[in-house]
Amino acid sequence: MASLVGAFAASHGPLIVREWERVPTDQKQRMSAAYRELGRRLTAVRPDVLIVVSPDHWSNFFLDNYPAVCIGIGETNDGPPEPWMKDFPHRAFAGHPGLATHIAATALQQGYEPSISYRLKLDHGSCIPLWRMELERPPKIVPLLVNSIEPPMPSLARCYQWGGLLRKAIESYAEPLRVAILGTGGLSHSIGEPTMGAIYEEFDRETIRLFARPERELIEFLDAKLPSSGNGSEEIRNWLVAHGAAGGRGFELVDYLPVPTVIVGCGFAAWRV
Ligand SMILES: [Fe+2]
Repeated sequence: MASLVGAFAASHGPLIVREWERVPTDQKQRMSAAYRELGRRLTAVRPDVLIVVSPDHWSNFFLDNYPAVCIGIGETNDGPPEPWMKDFPHRAFAGHPGLATHIAATALQQGYEPSISYRLKLDHGSCIPLWRMELERPPKIVPLLVNSIEPPMPSLARCYQWGGLLRKAIESYAEPLRVAILGTGGLSHSIGEPTMGAIYEEFDRETIRLFARPERELIEFLDAKLPSSGNGSEEIRNWLVAHGAAGGRGFELVDYLPVPTVIVGCGFAAWRV
């Protein structure tokens, strides 16, 4: 049987690439160290497959068709389409159709209704963390794109449940694969709205604190505060998927720092699974 060997989460944001040289040295060093630490831990658990849980920033979908959740079940997925991601070293990623299809089938059987795609583009949401984690060779990747940018979005509770569902699917997959999960996005940021550029540090710190509390408290807090904490903060959904896969336990903050140059409250976390 397959097993879950690690769960991780990290922020992303276009300016982490585009404005990287302008980030003050001490903050750049801390961010680099945190990404690299996640990369080190991910490598240490020797995953055969990495499920990357990210929003789609209108790279695959647009307002004419925006699925709540889409699983990439193809042999191959493409690298980032953004021109400013052109230096990212991978133009394509091997997928794992067997596991991905099993996740989709398990989801449907359990009353979840994801969409599927045989070929996705993995945009900066997936690829910035993978890039900065400095993996020597990325494992096979199963993308799980969760709508965390365009309302209405899947509920926070549902995203947490998706984590549990992923674990169930992994642990019922016949092949002895080692599978890890990486949730990307958040923490607080605000994009294309009047508060653009705001970082809600107090919100971020309370969110981080509540990851160590029962998930009901975390979700209640987020349901109450997310509407006034920046639209980018909705991407915390992808952390909730990782948290749910870990059964709501074992959260460890690797680092958190608000970085005004990249307009993101940057968080990095790992779970004991
Ligand atoms: Fe994003």
